[in-house]
Amino acid sequence: MSYPQFPKGFFFGAATAAYQVEGGWNADGKGLSTWDVFTHKKGKILNGDTGDVACNTYYDFQTDLDILSTLEFNAYRFSIAWSRVLPQGRGRVNQKGLDYYNRLVDALLEKNITPFITMFHWDMPQALFERYGGFASRETFGYFADYAGVIVKSLGDRVKYWITLNEPWEHAFFGHFVGEHAPGVINPWTYFKVAHHELLGHGLAVECVRALAPDARVGITLSQFPIYPYADTHRHRDAARFADLFLNRFFLDGVYKGQYPEALFKRMWPFRPKIKPGDMETISRPFDFLGVNYYTRQFARYLWYLPFLRAWVDRDPPPGISHPELGPQAYPQGMRELNKRYREEYGNPVVYITENGTMDSLELENGRVPDTHRQRYLELYLAELSQAIAEGSDVRGYFIWTLMDNFEWASGYSSRMGLVHVDHTTQKRTIKDSAYWMRELIRAQVIT
Ligand code: FCB
Repeated sequence: MSYPQFPKGFFFGAATAAYQVEGGWNADGKGLSTWDVFTHKKGKILNGDTGDVACNTYYDFQTDLDILSTLEFNAYRFSIAWSRVLPQGRGRVNQKGLDYYNRLVDALLEKNITPFITMFHWDMPQALFERYGGFASRETFGYFADYAGVIVKSLGDRVKYWITLNEPWEHAFFGHFVGEHAPGVINPWTYFKVAHHELLGHGLAVECVRALAPDARVGITLSQFPIYPYADTHRHRDAARFADLFLNRFFLDGVYKGQYPEALFKRMWPFRPKIKPGDMETISRPFDFLGVNYYTRQFARYLWYLPFLRAWVDRDPPPGISHPELGPQAYPQGMRELNKRYREEYGNPVVYITENGTMDSLELENGRVPDTHRQRYLELYLAELSQAIAEGSDVRGYFIWTLMDNFEWASGYSSRMGLVHVDHTTQKRTIKDSAYWMRELIRAQVIT
């Protein structure tokens, strides 16, 4: 069997996020995050699940690092829980929280696994939400920069890769426009404020890494979607163009070009966020890499009754379109399409695929998890990624979402996306078959 090839020094990693794996939600002085509060409200999360315990990695990360080593991965992406380090989001530092991340980083380095740290993966300190509405106010991006300072000062001598934000679109949209994620706000005005202020936080955090860890690299992780019209009509094509501005280009153009797409606010004019002098310069500070989370494409539809937007997207394709092996939502070619865009329109930046993966609902069969679907998914997506590199893209790493089955936001524990199966009652880990396939792929790299 032949395996897709990747350049020398390529990072093969797995990704997680604090709220999805740590548990220890109120341990050792940790402050509440909006996710702690949101999941404890009735009816917000499937089956009433919460991240109170999650995968228990606050109490035991060693088991999972041993698995990473067994699988021969050389990188691990995880996030820091802001309110574990700064319980109120600002002011007093909780040393025990900071110690936890120091131990984690040291344990990774001992195993020669390179840490990639995400500073913000959606778990806004509740205190900042109550006082300022989270990123809805300008105060919060200043506090975010202070928090970045605290963690970079503490870990920056050993951590060389920093990701400022994870998927600012999802945090703004699901958290503040449609209310399906914490903090559960439903308000399009808030959506645009949050998106703009998140990017300001990104820019300030970039400056902070530059100042405190000059030899480290810093980037931002965006969710990215190739967008197709639901049908080949003028109106659906227009919807696709608009959706692309809304989901992708607002963020890409903001950080790379220092301007938001004019056409977006031509339509959404009442919602334009207040942009103060200097904001766009801060947002577009040069940074080192683009983190790309890519799973699927979206189909855009013209919907006349949606005020201003007039368009909506859906991951489900129109009837008749489906990946022959992987099913309707899978679109491996997207790996190439997106990277082509970065080459041609955004100066061919260094890219890390910071998330990609798929879910299953499998339980153990004679001690194994035969997740053949995931293996095929990885084969096809990685083949396209390898092709993108052959076409000239500067992709330097690939992180699977996710290391182990964990708390998948609004879907709770029902959606198993891990390379490792987790029994959520006993915390027992079982490495799935696809993870062994990944190890074969890593071993099959011909290092030239
Ligand atoms: C992304 C999130 C990540 C995980 C995957 C499935 O949007 O960044 O935390 O939930 O989706």
